[in-house]
Amino acid sequence: MTASIGVAMKRKEDPRFIRGRGRYLDDIVLPNMLYLALVHSPYPHARIKSIDKSKALALPGVKAVITGEDLDAAKLEWLPTFHGYDKQMVLAFGKALYQYQEVAGVVATSREIAEDGVELVEVEYEPLDPVVNPFQSKEDKIILRDDRESKTNHIYHWEVGDKEKTAAALDSSAVRIKERILSPRCHPAPLEPCGIVADMNKATGRLTVYMTSQAPHVHRTAFSLVTGIPEDKIHFISPDVGGGFGNKVPVYPGYVVATVASVIIGVPVKWVETRTENLTTTGFARDYHMDVEIGATNDGRVTALKVSTTADHGAFDAAADPRKYPAGLFGIVTGSYDFPTAFAEVDAYFTNKAPGGIAYRCSFRVTEASYAIERSMDILARKLDMDPAELRRRNFVAKDKFPYSSPLGFVYDSGDYEATLRKALDKIGYDSLRKEQAEKRKRGELMGIGISTFTEVVGAGPGKHFDILGIKMFDSAEIRIHPTGSGIVRAGTRHQGQGHETTYAQIVGEELGLDPQELLVEEGDTDTAPYGLGTYASRSTPVAGAALAMAARRIREKAKKIAAHLMEVSEADVEWSDYKFNVKGIPGKSVTMKDVAFAAYTNPPPATEPGLEATYYYDPPNMTFPNGAYVAVVDVDRDTGHVQVRRFLAVDDCGVVVNPMIVEGQIHGGLTEGFAMAFMQQIVYDDAGNHLNTNFTDYLVPTALETPHWETDRTVTPSPHHPIGAKGVGESPNVGSPQAFVNAVMDALAPLGVTHLDMPLTREKVWRAIREAEAKT
Ligand code: CDP
Repeated sequence: MTASIGVAMKRKEDPRFIRGRGRYLDDIVLPNMLYLALVHSPYPHARIKSIDKSKALALPGVKAVITGEDLDAAKLEWLPTFHGYDKQMVLAFGKALYQYQEVAGVVATSREIAEDGVELVEVEYEPLDPVVNPFQSKEDKIILRDDRESKTNHIYHWEVGDKEKTAAALDSSAVRIKERILSPRCHPAPLEPCGIVADMNKATGRLTVYMTSQAPHVHRTAFSLVTGIPEDKIHFISPDVGGGFGNKVPVYPGYVVATVASVIIGVPVKWVETRTENLTTTGFARDYHMDVEIGATNDGRVTALKVSTTADHGAFDAAADPRKYPAGLFGIVTGSYDFPTAFAEVDAYFTNKAPGGIAYRCSFRVTEASYAIERSMDILARKLDMDPAELRRRNFVAKDKFPYSSPLGFVYDSGDYEATLRKALDKIGYDSLRKEQAEKRKRGELMGIGISTFTEVVGAGPGKHFDILGIKMFDSAEIRIHPTGSGIVRAGTRHQGQGHETTYAQIVGEELGLDPQELLVEEGDTDTAPYGLGTYASRSTPVAGAALAMAARRIREKAKKIAAHLMEVSEADVEWSDYKFNVKGIPGKSVTMKDVAFAAYTNPPPATEPGLEATYYYDPPNMTFPNGAYVAVVDVDRDTGHVQVRRFLAVDDCGVVVNPMIVEGQIHGGLTEGFAMAFMQQIVYDDAGNHLNTNFTDYLVPTALETPHWETDRTVTPSPHHPIGAKGVGESPNVGSPQAFVNAVMDALAPLGVTHLDMPLTREKVWRAIREAEAKT
């Protein structure tokens, strides 16, 4: 197995080409189109006493005002959630449960008129006391959800592992650490917000939906289930959606209200949310308060891990998790380490905050888990007075233990953690950095080195374990080769800039010996693409990428018959090598896939179906376990608290690489997001439940100015069960990097006795920690 593919292309041109076409939602303007704007609650928790639409309806150009009561009358007021633990209100009905919650929709002939109409909708609220964090929620003094039978704010308890054995092991461990670690509420904040054009054609009875969707097929099914419109009468088109990062997986109220308006009025209705709507109402990420305990021997062998999490899910449990995994794949919390025993539990609560808990560039709570274990390993290293790299090395799952069964139920496919860490430490010059740090410490300077050796789990299914709305998490590919050897490749995924148009063409080109430049890749149109579960959680390459390779191999099987026919030999004498069909033992006697494609339509063997196409629905036998070793080097300004990231090296192992440049781009983007989470980003609510950072001047997104320079490298341990040995990569840098930054800053502050600070490590927070530490000494 090679380390990267693209050999077919290398013969002709630079393998690192990027292709792409695009149509953005903004470009979609249809005849007679109306526009939707939404009314939002100013209160985090309030009873809605009345809604007066009359002034808005009197405004010229306003065509309709829709409220929760209207939707309730049409039985469209509740949305199912993906995992089915809860349901979500479309428009606030009876009570508003978070600030900015959608209360009504105004449909008008222009966006501006719709927004003016919003100002004229008069809502009478009776403010109620809010519940602003899960610890307050736990007390059940204020019950938030009147609609639920059970009168508690507790949503679920989930646990995995051996509780008793872990408790006993912790009790008898020579060394123990315990820390509450917060993975703060943050937001994917795609630059392009969510939107929809719903177009109900009353003449044909067909609803066409252009929607910023990372999972168009699942959304079509959900729309059919909720509205009762047969699935064949619903056509989803996910245009180029801009950034997604998990934010465009859930169904949001604006989508539903626009669709209802179009169905009722019979013309297209467009809704594109504002920046503030995106930040305040759409799927947030994280918000896990994790109490982590690790036991170890005096020489630094871990003995047990216990993690108890209190999760803030906001007003509805709209977490985009598979049904059997209400806390996602949090069980990956043992990370890269060989814990003899472990136990993890999550208790989730409602609060007066926006709903969500989406997989922000993360395979369902893997970022939280990875942050918890990587921070804790550093805290343990400090307690043991051991180098954090050495502690990791002593506890890695050894290379010869794969496939490795973790104590929390995963079977890791492959990895060589030691080699990846070694590569990272050698490349960054770890030993000399430590010497430099020792010198600086003597002078009172604060320099830190932070390590993260994370393991991820990506590529859901298998279908037997994973489903969304009951639909098994497989994915699909369809390949049609035209007579002249070009072709069309379709998949059930939908990229949001990850470059599938390039990499999917490469996978198929490699399998078939065809020029990827002549393979058109299409995704996102439910009328043409095979059914798939979509693109999120780095599942595209592990699942749809595998489906593509398998569909191509199906084509190759048929092509072999045709090749034998063309060369007038028996099929058994034909072999596929060097991107063509050769006759065994007769050098030079060969035909290419292009020759075969032409023959498939012009001269197929007798009794053989003409044409050259195949479909494959791939249900993966297991997930893939990409991993990496990241090292951050920081200098902290003692006077100002400013953290300068001097170097950052990411060594990733995502198995066989399809396209090195695309992988590098994925890593650069994810590291930039990890940097933002570590230093800048947190959705902040005040004690009254008001959302304080509702735009990009208050919720910060890094620009090129503050983003560090990224260094990258890789190791390759192919996934043994994936047809081309690839693992996912898109989320690795987001999952793996925040803890490297935080570990580096904590390492810098170690001489001051600071052991842990929660993200984001803003200049003020670091400055205060330094001042407080100095005051103590
Ligand atoms: O599901 P998503 O596309 O977000 O994530 P992914 O499967 O990790 O892929 C992100 C991009 O990196 C895609 O274009 C992949 O084909 C590419 N990739 C690659 O070239 N080699 C890998 N081993 C993994 C991903």
